[in-house]
Amino acid sequence: MSEPTTTIDRLGRPLRDLRVSVTDRCNFRCTYCMPREIYGGAFRFLPHEALLTFEEITRFARVAISLGVTKIRLTGGEPLLRRELERLVTMLAGLEGLADLTLTTNGSALAAKAELLAQAGLRRVTVSLDSLDEETFARLNDVAFPVARVLEGIEAAERAGLAPIKVNMVVRRGQNEHSVLPMARFARDRGYTLRFIEYMDVGHTNGWALEEVVPSEEVLAAIDAEMPLEPLPPRYPGEVASRFRYRDGDAEIGVISSVTQPFCGSCTRARLTAEGALYTCLFGTDGVDVRATLRAGADDEALRDQLLEVWRSRTDRYSELRSAATRDLPKVEMSRIGG
Ligand SMILES: C[S@@+](CC[C@H](N)C(=O)[O-])C[C@H]1O[C@@H](n2cnc3c(N)ncnc32)[C@H](O)[C@@H]1O
Ligand code: SF4
Repeated sequence: MSEPTTTIDRLGRPLRDLRVSVTDRCNFRCTYCMPREIYGGAFRFLPHEALLTFEEITRFARVAISLGVTKIRLTGGEPLLRRELERLVTMLAGLEGLADLTLTTNGSALAAKAELLAQAGLRRVTVSLDSLDEETFARLNDVAFPVARVLEGIEAAERAGLAPIKVNMVVRRGQNEHSVLPMARFARDRGYTLRFIEYMDVGHTNGWALEEVVPSEEVLAAIDAEMPLEPLPPRYPGEVASRFRYRDGDAEIGVISSVTQPFCGSCTRARLTAEGALYTCLFGTDGVDVRATLRAGADDEALRDQLLEVWRSRTDRYSELRSAATRDLPKVEMSRIGG
């Protein structure tokens, strides 16, 4: 394999991260992501043959690494619902040049899978948990999934060495702001890195409204009043979370303020959906069909040219342009693109 190149888009941003969605299915129906009215019994999920195979994902990942990708995150839908995911992890973990391999999960199957994933070569996990309060969590996941089972998953991940554990909490006005402080105390006690995510207007099905966004400033002020914080510098260019440390302890928190303080200027992420559509923005409207290229028998050179072409012509900066004019664009749904 030749030396990795740096591939730069039209706004000077290098390609560094690849997010791979491995399924569009999920066992939760989080109201901000897969509302039950849309993703109910009649919803048609992708048939298995439409999904990229593990071999296809690994081939694309190898090419992406040759163009500068150093970090891969597996996501979904719920990635742990994809059968034998650990086999994909083994294949990706073996790729030369990959510095970081991680996964975002709702944690529901983590107690059963954490050890297998760690053995396969996964380095760490991010677990989504929006509240410690049973009623609030059940309302948000909309399948009455108990908090305790997510906590068991987190603990299993910790025992398996998938650390540092990150916990993602989406904060939605009127739903779970009251969970911000209990979650902060909990994560601080356990030494987990908690990240508060502003509720985003991804896709169309969640009926997003700006009034439901709790600005990160507000979250930070509430925490700082009880547990004083100080800012930390970014660990690398393009880090999406702004980081803070408790003044009297080691634990850190982060805020991802994609609505109130967009970070498009430093975005280094490409995203591959479960059926192989390549997007260069979470708010993209059209994907490029990588699966067609793979299944037409293209060689690595042709795959590389396709990705090069896509990244080099990239100009996306949706969050910076967010306005009434962008609201009705036909954006891809979060459960397809994976966050
Ligand atoms: C789409 S999920 C996929 C992985 C896995 N099912 C999970 O929930 O962690 C990835 C992340 O996106 C977040 N997310 C989903 N919809 C969102 C929205 N509208 N705004 C902000 N974050 C969202 C989830 O909370 C989760 O942390
Ligand atoms: S956020 Fe994750 S767990 Fe919740 S519905 Fe979306 S994909 Fe499923």
